[in-house]
Amino acid sequence: MAEPPAGAEFGEGARSRRSIVRGSGARLFDADGRSFVDLGATHGAGNLGAADPEVARAIAAQAAELIHLGTGYASPVREAFLERLLGLLPRSFGRVFLSNSGTEAVEAALKIARSATGRPRIVAAMRGFHGRTLGALSATWRKELREPFEPLVPEFVHVPYNDPAALAAAVDDRTAAILLEPVQGEGGIHVATPAYLAAARAAADRHAALLVFDEVQTGIGRTGRMFAFEHAGVVPDVLVLAKSLAGGFPIGATVTSAEIEARFRGSHHSTFGGSPLACAAGLAALEHVTRDRLPERAAALGAVGLERLRRLPAARVREVRGLGLMIGVELRERVAPVLAALEERGFLALNAGATVLRLLPPLVIEERDWTDGLSAIEAVVGGG
Ligand SMILES: Cc1ncc(COP(=O)(O)O)c(C=O)c1O
Repeated sequence: MAEPPAGAEFGEGARSRRSIVRGSGARLFDADGRSFVDLGATHGAGNLGAADPEVARAIAAQAAELIHLGTGYASPVREAFLERLLGLLPRSFGRVFLSNSGTEAVEAALKIARSATGRPRIVAAMRGFHGRTLGALSATWRKELREPFEPLVPEFVHVPYNDPAALAAAVDDRTAAILLEPVQGEGGIHVATPAYLAAARAAADRHAALLVFDEVQTGIGRTGRMFAFEHAGVVPDVLVLAKSLAGGFPIGATVTSAEIEARFRGSHHSTFGGSPLACAAGLAALEHVTRDRLPERAAALGAVGLERLRRLPAARVREVRGLGLMIGVELRERVAPVLAALEERGFLALNAGATVLRLLPPLVIEERDWTDGLSAIEAVVGGG
């Protein structure tokens, strides 16, 4: 195994990691040619796998034509991508701001919310995760992530997740937006009940606040629908997307209505947001996801996974939660040794906090790789 150069990088995840040199579908290969199955190694950005050939071809072809273009000029590939994206969404959505990452897409949503309502307050959820830039971090719950950077942006409050009464009590006429993940990812895979999302919609409507869904991790088919809000039939005012939207190429999208955009005062801009390369990748990715009905595949494989994992012994597993191919196994012990044991067996999974094993495999994962992954988890966590 190739050793990473010591100390060259900083940030979470920058230390003691295995070197991966290439991939195909849900398979990742290290420098020695050893193959691993991706059960979460791409952090939810790899819904189409490691190097989707259609996305790779689109990027290469676009790179040969035009890599970058300022947003002041029209670009056919950007228009085609936006049309494709909006075509997947309810008609109420008609405006998109393109950026380069999830945290930037959240920042744009926060600016839209404050500017369009003229109000300061953002109501977010305990255990929520929305990114690392200072605005998105202010909406993020985990103390260890927030504290070293305080003071953060004022007027962010956090309420218990899946508690409609607490949410309703926190929303008032100073509230610009309610910001929620339909399934909390980093916070441990907690699935919102449809009633909770409906209560969020009602609270926002009651006070003319905006409802913002952060679907950075849940979006683009992962939960068994193209967007997780479809499960509950609750349509937000602002939808935040990133991660898998462009098949692994950096992108962020903040989607809203023409009516809300018309109320937006001030300006927002990104040099690289919506670059021809990102849009070409996004167009190819959305075509692949829809043509191959990957949300349905996520629903089917996810159901198999949940059914098997829910039979793990209660002595070691507190709870198994999930929706589609977004699954969390909450252990009664620390997850790090379980991740190491899975890696030993050739499966690269992910944690969410100290005790949750998080599974975010590509939606294109071979059935055999998925069931072998489940068997590996049963072998590692199965002993009482
Ligand atoms: C729900 C959610 N929002 C926002 C982000 C931030 O995205 P990025 O890392 O692309 O900035 C993440 C990243 O994990 C996320 O899961």
